[in-house]
Amino acid sequence: MRRVLVVGIGAGDPEHLTLQGVRAIGRADAFLVLDKGEAKADLVDLRRALVAEHGRAGARWLEGRDPDRARVREGYPGAVQDWRRARAQVTADLLRQVGEDETAALLVWGDPSLFDSTLAILEQVEDVPFDVEVVPGISSVSALCAQHRIPLNRVGRPVVVTTGRRLAEGWPEGVDDVVVMLDAHGAYEGLEGVDVWWGAYVGTPDEVLVQGRLPEAAAAIRAAHDEARARKGWIMDTYLLRRGG
Ligand SMILES: C[S@@+](CC[C@H](N)C(=O)[O-])C[C@H]1O[C@@H](n2cnc3c(N)ncnc32)[C@H](O)[C@@H]1O
Repeated sequence: MRRVLVVGIGAGDPEHLTLQGVRAIGRADAFLVLDKGEAKADLVDLRRALVAEHGRAGARWLEGRDPDRARVREGYPGAVQDWRRARAQVTADLLRQVGEDETAALLVWGDPSLFDSTLAILEQVEDVPFDVEVVPGISSVSALCAQHRIPLNRVGRPVVVTTGRRLAEGWPEGVDDVVVMLDAHGAYEGLEGVDVWWGAYVGTPDEVLVQGRLPEAAAAIRAAHDEARARKGWIMDTYLLRRGG
């Protein structure tokens, strides 16, 4: 049976890779990559560097074009389903190029359990039998807390991890500590009396960190965000919000 290793590679620092991740990369006969296009070439480049350093000689690099996700708000859950189906199709085509007694690896940004669709996509792959093994990775949330030198939660208190889109709909019920990911529109704008720890490209040479209290810190975050985005053409940022501190 084909084996598929889903390997968390960390949030951008090559040294985030765990020993388990290093060994998994060394076991792979082929690496499957869904290329997201030129704008995010850095994301592919890190994977290539990790394979060059830890991969087995002669391991193959199998690339498929990542289908574009329909960027419509209306019918959002349906759009995600369609996108996952299209990605499952591309993944199945790549897996057909892997022998039945071979091991393939998918190198997943951060940790595969957190806002990543790889495992859901593999669930949807039909007609190509395989076993799955998951190697956890350092998430952008862990990396953010480490770089700001803060704990994620306060003693005995819950934390919600959510998206910018959800936060824009309102502060989550029952929590005072919120991690925000996938925020395209600055959902922190308009919040008051909230401490914020913000980071972009955390763990990479482009890392930018801002810490402060909202609303005063919003201008600094917005300026850092817009400058970095204009320079690189894309941005990945995450932040922790804490109220009542
Ligand atoms: C599709 S999710 C992937 C999350 C990933 N699986 C993880 O464990 O961090 C992409 C989001 O992760 C966050 N992210 C990933 N890498 C990051 C980094 N190096 N710095 C800041 N945020 C990052 C951003 O919020 C980005 O929009």
